[in-house]
Amino acid sequence: MPVNEGTIRALRSALAQNPENLDLRKHLGELLLMLGRYPEAEQEFREALTRAPEDPDIKVSLAEVFFQEDKFSEALVIIEALLTQPTPPPGAHRLAAHLYLHSGDMASSETHYRLGLEKDPELYDSNLEERLGIDTDRENPDEDFEEAEEGGSEEEFDSFPAPEDMFLEEGPFRQGLGRDGDAEIENPSLTFADVGGMENLKEEIRMKIIHPLQHPEIFEAYGKKPGGGILMYGPPGCGKTFIARATAGEVKSSFIAIGLQDVLNMYVGESERSLHHLFELARNYAPCVLFFDEVDALAASRSDFRNAATRQVINQFLAELDGITGNNSGVLVLAATNAPWHLDPAFRRPGRFDRQVFVPPPDPGARGEILQIALAGKPADKIDYAKLAKKTEGFSGADLMSVVDIAIEAKLREAMAKGAPSAITTKSLLTSIKDVRPSTREWFNTARNYLLYANQSGIYDAIRDYLER
Ligand SMILES: Nc1ncnc2c1ncn2[C@@H]1O[C@H](COP(=O)(O)OP(=O)(O)OP(=O)(O)O)[C@@H](O)[C@H]1O
Ligand SMILES: [Mg+2]
Repeated sequence: MPVNEGTIRALRSALAQNPENLDLRKHLGELLLMLGRYPEAEQEFREALTRAPEDPDIKVSLAEVFFQEDKFSEALVIIEALLTQPTPPPGAHRLAAHLYLHSGDMASSETHYRLGLEKDPELYDSNLEERLGIDTDRENPDEDFEEAEEGGSEEEFDSFPAPEDMFLEEGPFRQGLGRDGDAEIENPSLTFADVGGMENLKEEIRMKIIHPLQHPEIFEAYGKKPGGGILMYGPPGCGKTFIARATAGEVKSSFIAIGLQDVLNMYVGESERSLHHLFELARNYAPCVLFFDEVDALAASRSDFRNAATRQVINQFLAELDGITGNNSGVLVLAATNAPWHLDPAFRRPGRFDRQVFVPPPDPGARGEILQIALAGKPADKIDYAKLAKKTEGFSGADLMSVVDIAIEAKLREAMAKGAPSAITTKSLLTSIKDVRPSTREWFNTARNYLLYANQSGIYDAIRDYLER
């Protein structure tokens, strides 16, 4: 149908009769957009949004109008908000690709172009590909064929990144993150047996991470794809880092721990490279547990649209997680945060941290176990663990370790004075309990505030259940 003034007029009068007809209004807006009549198109989409404020397609269209009008930051605000939703429309990725390209951020542009294309092959854009210097047609000549085969798409990104990146050893990694020498490849000897309590979490990790690694064929038979990680959240000192390390020991894999705050503190551009190197390192050392601490650092800044540098790190992180930049099989991803309320829904999408587990303070049984583990091999009498557990409500695992430390120090001092060693007793532990303040209460106070004001993600349900138990 040739679009002319007559068509537009007809649509307008139909809308005057029927102002609630959203499809009609969207159609009119699209035509105006196509004709380059941007202010009029903008008006229709704005009007449509007042009637359907959450409609993602209208938002994309409005952003498209802004983009055409060179109002890039307005367009970006809409698109960024859409990208934080569980399933952004493919058009949002397409527009993001254009907006990032415009701002000179090639990496993010490419990431979003690929994400959009994956969801909707119709978005193929040879012009954009040329400007990005990529050629998806050549990368995947047998795409259709491979998709028909089960699991064939896993190798899909093997030709990307560049081959020289595939042989990363410690060198580049050390350059990338090693400024403070913190992160390194470990082979922990710790196993689940060293972790007191946390039975639910252990089971969750077994099902989501360990079994798929050890019995991929069974999971495949049930149509379960590997990938995705577990996000642990809860008060400090309750074993999140500890169990991540023990997971690696449990499957005898290597272990890399990354504090994301450190990554974010790097120079512009350096952070993305480091992240990529870390994932490459984990891929090369697979099976490998890749543990991200302080993910909230990343998530909190995501909504800070002004900070383009941070945004790039986040997009890089999501792209690495999604396996866009390399094959993640054998890379087991765990993450932890004390501030789940800062977490962006984009992180919880399938294939990312699609399991979130609350790590509460240890219950009485677990407190007894942790004390027992802490005292193993030390000179101690027969200890009444049940009694100690009762007296340590609200203590974290770390608090309990301090209790034992303090008791040992006291005994050492006594031994020095008396010239003879004496064993740690229930009584001496009860004394040192008085010197340690349970550290989890403050966290729950903060959590309670967030519970009161926002529970949109459902992530607090577990905290509430715990508080109301
Ligand atoms: N369930 C547990 N079993 C045995 N030891 C534990 C357990 N929980 C905590 N601990 C001890 O407490 C220490 C602190 O725990 P960890 O560092 O894992 O806490 P976290 O949850 O990661 O805290 P943060 O949120 O501050 O990073 C551990 O190194 C370990 O010694
Ligand atoms: Mg920790």
